[in-house]
Amino acid sequence: MLIDGHGRVVNYLRVSVTERCNFRCQYCMPEKPFSWVPKENLLSFEELFLFIKVAIDEGVTKIRITGGEPLLREDLDSFIEMISNYKPDIDLAITTNGYLLSDTAQKLKDAGLKRLNISLDSLKPEVAYKIAQKDVLAKVLKGIDRALEVGLGVKINMVPLKGINDNEILDIMEFCRERDIKVRYIEYMENHHATETLRGMHGKEILTKVKERYKIYALGREGSSPSFNYRTEDGYEFGLIDPHKHDFCESCNRIRLTAEGHLIPCLYFDEALSIAKHVKRGDIKGATEVLSKVLRDKPKENRWSIDNQEDISSRAFYQTGG
Ligand code: 5AD
Ligand code: SF4
Repeated sequence: MLIDGHGRVVNYLRVSVTERCNFRCQYCMPEKPFSWVPKENLLSFEELFLFIKVAIDEGVTKIRITGGEPLLREDLDSFIEMISNYKPDIDLAITTNGYLLSDTAQKLKDAGLKRLNISLDSLKPEVAYKIAQKDVLAKVLKGIDRALEVGLGVKINMVPLKGINDNEILDIMEFCRERDIKVRYIEYMENHHATETLRGMHGKEILTKVKERYKIYALGREGSSPSFNYRTEDGYEFGLIDPHKHDFCESCNRIRLTAEGHLIPCLYFDEALSIAKHVKRGDIKGATEVLSKVLRDKPKENRWSIDNQEDISSRAFYQTGG
């Protein structure tokens, strides 16, 4: 079992397989970064897998593949297959923008993938265009349909932004209700890379919009998830992710691995240690030692604050996969 310096059990690993993305979401990567991590610095699937085996052997039971956009990485299904063959009962999921999903959903399912979280910020083509800075909606919707068709579990992520898509909170909920899938509203997290003028909605404001149509009941957090669940009077469940609170930090169960091998204990902090040189040499002991050190130093809580724009991590979401 992996236990951090504050006594928390860590059983959830998020792996970013690329920082590249085919979208330019205003809240994440509005402009192409000045430079990408050079291809040769990316860990191969074999190298990432070597660390993943260590993590699984030590007690990780849940793995999420993220990016950037993970489906941009060629042969992602082979990576999924490596992991699911090693531990068939692992809770294995991907977070994606859905753009490339219609062509890959079946392969991913066959490789052992169980679940996907797909970003869907608008159902209006022009608003989706404004947020992602590309005409994405039709392909994303096709990707969602395809994922459901092949039997993958789907959750939808929406980031409500003031004056942009804040009038679509209920529309996105209806879209999800019709398909019997869960929507999770995510409070916009301030970061240095996002468009400066962007203003997110507070969790409370999001709930107020939902309450215009539905009476809702609070259910509570689902295990260690940062998502707080609610149920409408007629039984539909949805989630709200409110990173500005840190009441979920005390049950935080996750660490993150970037595509170049940095092991990150908390999204908020800049600290990270690299496992790259160890996995490149096949040095399992060295990788395990880095893992132990990162766990020992995992911070107690984030310090995200809506009011203090200075006090935010400089790390980009596209490097850590959110
Ligand atoms: N604030 C909130 N959510 C974000 N995401 C990316 N950047 C941000 C941000 N600044 C979320 C997207 C997507 C997932 C990959 O991360 O909604 O669903
Ligand atoms: Fe790409 Fe996701 Fe970032 Fe949008 S939020 S730019 S889809 S990595």
